[in-house]
Amino acid sequence: MAHDTTADDKSGSGTSKLWGGRFSEATDEFVQVFTASVNFDQRLASQDIRGSLAHAGMLQSVGVLSEADAKTIAAGLEQIQQEINAGEFQWQIPLEDVHMNIESRLIDVVGEVGKKLHTGRSRNDQVATDLRLFLREAIDSIDAQQAALQNALLEQAERHADVIMPGFTHLQSAQPVTFGHHLLAWFEMLTRDRERLADCRKRVNVLPLGSAALAGTTFPIDREHVANALGFDSITANSLDGVSDRDFAIEFCSVAALTMNHFSRWCEELVLWSSQQFNFVDLPDRFCTGSSIMPQKKNPDVPELIRGKTGRVTGDLISLLTLMKSQPLAYNKDNQEDKEPLFDAVDTLSDCLTALVGLIPALSPKLANMRAAASSGFATATDLADYLVRQGVAFRDAHHIVGQAVALALNEGKELHELDLTQLQKLCQAIGDEVFDVLTLEGSVSARAHVGGTAPDTVRAAAKAGRLRVR
Ligand code: ARG
Repeated sequence: MAHDTTADDKSGSGTSKLWGGRFSEATDEFVQVFTASVNFDQRLASQDIRGSLAHAGMLQSVGVLSEADAKTIAAGLEQIQQEINAGEFQWQIPLEDVHMNIESRLIDVVGEVGKKLHTGRSRNDQVATDLRLFLREAIDSIDAQQAALQNALLEQAERHADVIMPGFTHLQSAQPVTFGHHLLAWFEMLTRDRERLADCRKRVNVLPLGSAALAGTTFPIDREHVANALGFDSITANSLDGVSDRDFAIEFCSVAALTMNHFSRWCEELVLWSSQQFNFVDLPDRFCTGSSIMPQKKNPDVPELIRGKTGRVTGDLISLLTLMKSQPLAYNKDNQEDKEPLFDAVDTLSDCLTALVGLIPALSPKLANMRAAASSGFATATDLADYLVRQGVAFRDAHHIVGQAVALALNEGKELHELDLTQLQKLCQAIGDEVFDVLTLEGSVSARAHVGGTAPDTVRAAAKAGRLRVR
């Protein structure tokens, strides 16, 4: 995009600005660049134009603009949208922001009547409206990506409902679980993220236009008309709050930061699992890169980068919280700084979703390695204790007996299921031959068949129920 920093005030008095009437000297050149936002807020152009179209339509409906003027303004705005789409629009830094670039161009295109568009509004309610429209659209597209990712997880969970792997606490082998169950844990995190996003959208989709600069306007505006035209669910109830509120952006960044936090946890697991030490999954080559010096390397760059980008989005949230802290009512120029963190959070989250929607379906678990890891490390010790309880031993005593069995096995360099029945019976008379079924991996996972458990059938049922939860 071209930025014309030289298109200067022709009179030299500052009066060629849209707001220049009371000024007697031109804006300092540095200040002009320092205060301009057009380099980044031109991203709001289509929202700005749609907001102006709705505003002009409303002004006509209440008799503030004639039908002819409203038509002329609408045609001019449509033409400007086309110029922007075609990359022909000349964005100018001296015109400060997206709003004044478009308004000024409108006056070029349609002449004097263009000067009537800004009746009854301010850039303060205009920018708040643009930003909410932008964010609503971003939320809807992120929501669709999240749904695709939920479906990818469900499909993989169903496919791998029987695959046994070690479950971890403290990153130590704890109990066997199924890979499908692990993926459904990710599904639950993502489902909460999506619910939070939908809740955030309710507070995003409220129209502030009509607040004008801060106190409302003297014109007989019809705010519901504008809300309907732009698809807002409701209108803001207080003009001071309408222009100053950025809670909706903070809420979005908070939802985005938490979602990224979840992704960073998944990605950390993918990095671990794809290491030679775990060797649980193969990441597809197309999601990895090599090393310029070590020919053998295949690095999990995509999960690592997602893990890293989590920090950016947390930073975006902190930026916005800090930006809004202590701001007096109503609008302050500080608010111009809200856009870049918000855009960054939207873009980063959306990119990470794109990466995961590609990566998750391509994950292939290495069954033998997962199984071997689950078989070692006494992962069925709790199953043995539970078995003793069923034989009438109190759980605390059972825990102690199994501890002794683990010590014995360690001593002999064996796993629990490799001890003889007589060795086990020396520790506890109540142990019978059926104990060896309890000590198998399949026995261990399939015994956990209650709602929320890791049994393969339960995982299949949970995945099926999950489908109904993905709207
Ligand atoms: N570029 C400004 C922003 O992003 C638009 C609103 C400016 N309002 C004002 N009174 N200076 O916040």
